[in-house]
Amino acid sequence: MTRVALVSGGTRGIGAAIATALKAAGYKVAANYAGNDERAKAFEAETGIPVFKWDVSSYEACLEGIAKVEAALGPVDVLVNNAGITRDAMFHKMTPAQWSEVINTNLTGLFNMTHPVWSGMRDRGFGRVINISSINGQKGQMGQANYSAAKAGDIGFTKALAQEGAAKNVTVNVICPGYIGTEMVMAVPEKVMNERILPQIPVGRLGQPEEIARCVVFLAADEAGFITGSTISANGGQYFV
Ligand code: CAA
Repeated sequence: MTRVALVSGGTRGIGAAIATALKAAGYKVAANYAGNDERAKAFEAETGIPVFKWDVSSYEACLEGIAKVEAALGPVDVLVNNAGITRDAMFHKMTPAQWSEVINTNLTGLFNMTHPVWSGMRDRGFGRVINISSINGQKGQMGQANYSAAKAGDIGFTKALAQEGAAKNVTVNVICPGYIGTEMVMAVPEKVMNERILPQIPVGRLGQPEEIARCVVFLAADEAGFITGSTISANGGQYFV
């Protein structure tokens, strides 16, 4: 049976690597994206993975978008909640908009994306929800009170929902990537990156998106049914929980 996977924020960065790896592993994959049409179309043309545009911070948009994905590919068996944004600022300079944009996308987005597929997974007796949190949700990060709060929330969400899904063979797990070489991380000021971040990574380099995708493929498998509520840290040894 070919399972259907939906990856939010799936056309760039870590999400693109996840969508591509799931396709290579035999899944029918759909990639959601919110903003960059040009990059999304290029991704679709390159990979053959259909792309669907909506904003995960809107519940109504998720209901509509997921309905379109399911009409095209079938019911979603594997949901990867990867979409995320940063609005970094020291807390004394952080605006209410910077706070709410990050909470609405990085935390409420998980409710909005998971709720529409949850009952179907329970009814069919199979589901995989894989949330992409962050090392900064585990350890906190200066300049990221908004992001760290949201990403810590993603871990709590995972642990609660894992308990609800367990009896129905619906697993819920969370991956906490460290600093991965994506556009999001490249936006960090060079001086901060070189002097404050890289020296803290024992493997001595940024991670690669494919190294996170590998964890997702592992958790998505039918054979991973005994793993639920787990947090996988993939951070080059930067932080041990
Ligand atoms: N780790 C350690 N120190 C940091 C730091 C970090 N990540 N970020 C900033 N600092 C330090 C700076 O070096 C600076 O110290 P000095 O005054 O001693 O030089 C001090 O904090 C203030 O920083 P700025 O002078 O840059 O202050 P600013 O107000 O102009 O900018 C900032 C603040 C927006 C937070 C900016 O420093 C910044 O973008 N920092 C990076 C924050 C960060 O790590 N974000 C992670 C993005 S990647 C991501 O989120 C993906 C993921 O999941 C891992």
